[in-house]
Amino acid sequence: MAKLWGGRFSKNTNELVDAFNASIEFDKRLYHEDIRGSIAHATMLAKCGIIPKEDAEKIVAGLKDILKDIEAGNFNFDIALEDIHMNIEARLTERIGAAGARLHTARSRNDQVALDMHMYMKREVVEIAELLVQFEEALLTVAKKHDKTLMPGYTHLQRAQPITFAHHLLAYFNMLQRDFRRLLGVWDGADIMPLGAGAIAGTTFPIDRFFVAEQLNFGSVYANSMDAVSDRDYIIEFLSFASTLMMHMSRLSEEFCLWSSTEFGFIELDDAFATGSSMMPQKKNPDISELVRGKTGRVYGHLMAMLTTAKGLPLTYNKDLQEDKEGFFDAIDTLKFSLAVYSDMIKTMTVNVDRMREAVSKDFSNATDLADYLVRKGLPFRMAHEVVGKCVAYAIGEGKFLPEISLDEYKKFSDLFEADLLDALKPENCVAARTSYGGPAFTENDKQFVRGDEIIAAQKAKVEELKQKL
Ligand code: ARG
Repeated sequence: MAKLWGGRFSKNTNELVDAFNASIEFDKRLYHEDIRGSIAHATMLAKCGIIPKEDAEKIVAGLKDILKDIEAGNFNFDIALEDIHMNIEARLTERIGAAGARLHTARSRNDQVALDMHMYMKREVVEIAELLVQFEEALLTVAKKHDKTLMPGYTHLQRAQPITFAHHLLAYFNMLQRDFRRLLGVWDGADIMPLGAGAIAGTTFPIDRFFVAEQLNFGSVYANSMDAVSDRDYIIEFLSFASTLMMHMSRLSEEFCLWSSTEFGFIELDDAFATGSSMMPQKKNPDISELVRGKTGRVYGHLMAMLTTAKGLPLTYNKDLQEDKEGFFDAIDTLKFSLAVYSDMIKTMTVNVDRMREAVSKDFSNATDLADYLVRKGLPFRMAHEVVGKCVAYAIGEGKFLPEISLDEYKKFSDLFEADLLDALKPENCVAARTSYGGPAFTENDKQFVRGDEIIAAQKAKVEELKQKL
C-alpha cells in the first residue's frame, strides 16, 4: 500500500519498520472518534470556503459508509497504513477519489490524534462515572442492610473499637466520592479541543476552530497550538484518577480476602463470585478480590509509564507520544471490569452477622469506653487510661474479658466503678454513644444514609448532564 506521505521517499519501508511503527492494532478503537472528528473538520473546511461544498458532502457520506463498514466488520485494517487516521483516509480516497484527498487540508495527524483521544476520553469518563455510581450504590445498599451489624474496628489489624459494618462500608463510600470528584476533573482536562493546531504551528487557511469545537460539544479550545499537540496531561490525570480508585478497591479487596478467611469468617462470597482449587476440594478462593488487588499494580505501572514517557520530550509532537495509548486503554478496561464485577460481588456476598457480633463481644475493643466511663465520673482521661490498662492486664491474667470481671474486683482498681459499668461495656452502647460528627453511632449513620442517597442522585444528574456534552 502506498504511503500517504510517500512523496519524498524513493524506497519502500522495511517490513519490520512498518510493524514497529504501526499503532493500528491498538488505535483502531478510536475509529468512531476519528470519523466523527473528520466529519466536523470537513464541514468546517466547507463552511470556511477552504474546500468545495460538494467535496465536503462526498467526504461526509464516504466517512459514514466507512463507519458502517467498520461496525459490520467489513474493514481491512492495514498495518502499512500505520494508524487509524491513515487507514480511514486512504480508504476514503479510494472510494470517493480527489475529494477524499482534500480532507487533510489544514490538519495534521498530530492534532487529529489529539482530538480523537480527547473525544474518546470524554466518552469513557461518562461510562466510568456510571459504573462508579453503580458501585457506590451497591456499597450503600449493603451498608443500609447492616446498620445494626456490630463488628470490631481495627487499627494495626488489632481490634480497636466497636463499629458497625455499615460504618466500615461507608468509609469506602466516602472515598469513592472523592474519586467521582477527581473523575470530573479528568473530564475538564479532556474537554478542550485541539484540532486546528496542525502539526505544531496552526495553519495558513482561514479555519474556524470554534465551529469545530461547537460541532463536537467541546467546552473550550486550546489557546496555544504547540500545547495542543503535545499535551498529555489529561491522560496522566486519568491514570492518576484510575490508580487512586484502584488503590481504594485494592484496600477493600484485602479486607474481603481477610474477612472471607476461616480465621475471620466475617463474610462468605457467593459461589458465583468465588473459585475453587484444582487440587484441594475444600477450597473456595476470593480470586476476584485478589485480581482487583493484583491489577492495581498494572494501572500504577501505566501511570508511571506515561509520566516517564512525557518527562524527556521536547516540544512538540514526538513519536514517543504514540505510547500514550496502550496503557491508557488497558487502564480503562481494567478499571471498568473491576468496577462492574465488584458491584455484583458486594451485593451477593453473605455477611456473617453472628460471627462479627461474637468477635466484638469477645475482645477488649470496649476498653476505651470503660476509660470514658471513668472520665464521666470525674477522673482525668490519662489516669482513667492507666486504670483501665491495669484492668485489661488483670482480665488477661484471669483469662476473662472485661464484662466478666466482678464489681468487687473492679473496685480494687478504682472506687469510681459502679454496677452501671456493665452498660458502658456493651458493644451496642459503645457504638450508640459515639455520636460525634462522622462517628459510627446508629443515629449518625442514619444521617449518612440520607446524605448518601442525595449524593448518588446528584451524581446521576451530573452523568446525564455530561452525556449531553458528548
Ligand atoms: N499514530 C500516531 C500517534 O498515535 C498519530 C500521530 C502521528 N504523527 C506523526 N507525525 N507521526 O501518536
